[in-house]
Amino acid sequence: MSRTRRLRGVNNPCSRGEDGPSFNNPSMAETLPNLQEDFRMQNKSVFILGASGETGKVLVKEILEQSLFSKVTLIGRRKLTFEEEAYKNVNQEVVDFEKLDDYASAFQGHDVGFCCLGTTKKKAGAEGFVRVDRDYVLKSAELAKAGGCKHFNLLSSQGADRSSSFLYLQIKGEVEAKVEELEFDRYSIFRPGVLLCDRQESRPSEWLIRKFFGSLPESWARPYSVPVVTVVRAMLNNAVRPSDKKMELLDNKAIYALGKAHDTLKP
Ligand SMILES: NC(=O)c1ccc[n+]([C@@H]2O[C@H](COP(=O)([O-])OP(=O)(O)OC[C@H]3O[C@@H](n4cnc5c(N)ncnc54)[C@H](OP(=O)(O)O)[C@@H]3O)[C@@H](O)[C@H]2O)c1
Repeated sequence: MSRTRRLRGVNNPCSRGEDGPSFNNPSMAETLPNLQEDFRMQNKSVFILGASGETGKVLVKEILEQSLFSKVTLIGRRKLTFEEEAYKNVNQEVVDFEKLDDYASAFQGHDVGFCCLGTTKKKAGAEGFVRVDRDYVLKSAELAKAGGCKHFNLLSSQGADRSSSFLYLQIKGEVEAKVEELEFDRYSIFRPGVLLCDRQESRPSEWLIRKFFGSLPESWARPYSVPVVTVVRAMLNNAVRPSDKKMELLDNKAIYALGKAHDTLKP
């Protein structure tokens, strides 16, 4: 099967825009390497929030491996240390998330933004969780928009729903909606299931869930979990394909489809 035909065969990500390209659209008949090359030629800049986290660190690694952006900036509460040569041109902006307005300049001049920020109720308490997963995310998005960001990517969660009685899902749904009100030229929301990764930090309940899904046949685990690297590739494969949709909502199935397209098409 040709590369082009493989890409065409990928399921459409679910989306909530009026119109715009999808994998079935003729404009998507291009191969992924071609789309990546076109994207590179545009010399875009990117910022990443949550780059020290499980998803964020894989995202940064993949961004550098694919050389998609001409400038990469990590925005976080602490400076990160990298040994590898590939990271030598990565910029870092250390900010105080409680006083983000004082750090507006950190958010200026980025074409694309990825937000992988988040904490847990167990770690930060209910108030702390809301502060990070809603307030920090929203304020960052506001500053990014004011700073000229055109495409904002939010890592949310499966089941996000502002009317949910579960705080986690409620806050995820709330922040999704509030960021949408900012009207980025393009806004992509990713709603993965349980993230499969080898987490350094001890989270026993999450570890058990990951073990459980890891032991299931892939077809059973697929609706509810997804490897972090698949999420990251879905985010990047989505970013490189042109879209005139203002808002895209990618569920776990769509994330798999997009994330795996990378493997299939890798030269
Ligand atoms: N875990 C799952 O199975 C799952 C499933 C679906 C969706 N999600 C969502 O996906 C996103 C990323 O998850 P992840 O597991 O990759 O995240 P993670 O490993 O917990 O990393 C979270 C990131 O947020 C930063 N952060 C946390 N608290 C902060 C604070 N008070 N101030 C500033 N920065 C703070 C961390 O920075 P430091 O390193 O400085 O702490 C880190 O960079 C989250 O929004 C999460 O809710 C997770």
